[in-house]
Amino acid sequence: MTFHQLRALLAVAEAGSIRGAAAAMVVTEPSVSAAIAQLSRELGVPLTERVGRGIRLTEAGKEFARYAAQILGLSDRGVRAAREAAGAGGHLRLAAVTTAGEYVLPPILAGFLRTHPGQRVSVEVGNRASTIARLLNDEADLALGGRPPDRGGIAGEAFRDNPLVVVGPPDHPLRRKRNFDPQLLSGETWLLREPGSGTRQTTEEFLAASGIEPGSVMNVGSNGAIKRAVSLGLGVTLISLDAVAEELAAGELARLEVRGSPLRRSWWVLYREEAPLPPSARTFLRFLRSGRSRGEAGPAPAARARSRSRGAPSAR
Ligand code: PGA
Repeated sequence: MTFHQLRALLAVAEAGSIRGAAAAMVVTEPSVSAAIAQLSRELGVPLTERVGRGIRLTEAGKEFARYAAQILGLSDRGVRAAREAAGAGGHLRLAAVTTAGEYVLPPILAGFLRTHPGQRVSVEVGNRASTIARLLNDEADLALGGRPPDRGGIAGEAFRDNPLVVVGPPDHPLRRKRNFDPQLLSGETWLLREPGSGTRQTTEEFLAASGIEPGSVMNVGSNGAIKRAVSLGLGVTLISLDAVAEELAAGELARLEVRGSPLRRSWWVLYREEAPLPPSARTFLRFLRSGRSRGEAGPAPAARARSRSRGAPSAR
């Protein structure tokens, strides 16, 4: 089994054709076909099948492709770690869920780069589902987001509080009430983030647990658009306090202190449970753990919690 064969399998899965895979890998089509055929022979099961003019992975191929991605990702990590250790300069690859990428990570990164000038950094921002996928596919070493998923080989550490609050327009009739009955928010239009968003998932759980029945639901795929819509009176929403602190202070949004809120959540730094971290990622993790990242305005630090600490990488 060779890395070339593993790459060919993943390229075929992505492109849906031998030609597309060959173009993506910058090799010839026979080389891709031969690699897949050899790999299938070695495993003793067909990994691809023809569909019309294209080709797709069989169930066995899909199953094996998950491992192939991990093998290649781990090898890539090893290469980067070795180069970093030899002083070749590291590349800190971060991912962040939308809310963290917009409001939490930028000041942390600014603080980190003040103490580590010249560090090469890339940040991929997407919703919770895509961020978890980036970690699993080894496209990022660390991710900032909500708690780790229950399954899937991802562990994490809470590093900062992330209260979620219900907000409405500045003239909302419930804006001065305290601890009011959640039922009073039934019949409202609730603005929800897109499917795959962690905030959306939390909102759905909150609505169900509080017995709130929205009058209607509006899907809006960005925190910024939701805030604007709420401030213009289009509805109410549950959102991270980090995302609305400025608008609340400026009186553009009103906090609705419904019973059961704020929801006490944390921001977590997430990583693959079994994969060692390259030096630059270990340095960033140490920075987060040190509390220096909390020098910025924001909610008080989270009580330190770890998930599956057995797999927590050391940041010596
Ligand atoms: P989101 O994630 O920005 O995708 O909603 C927030 C979270 O996971 O807490």
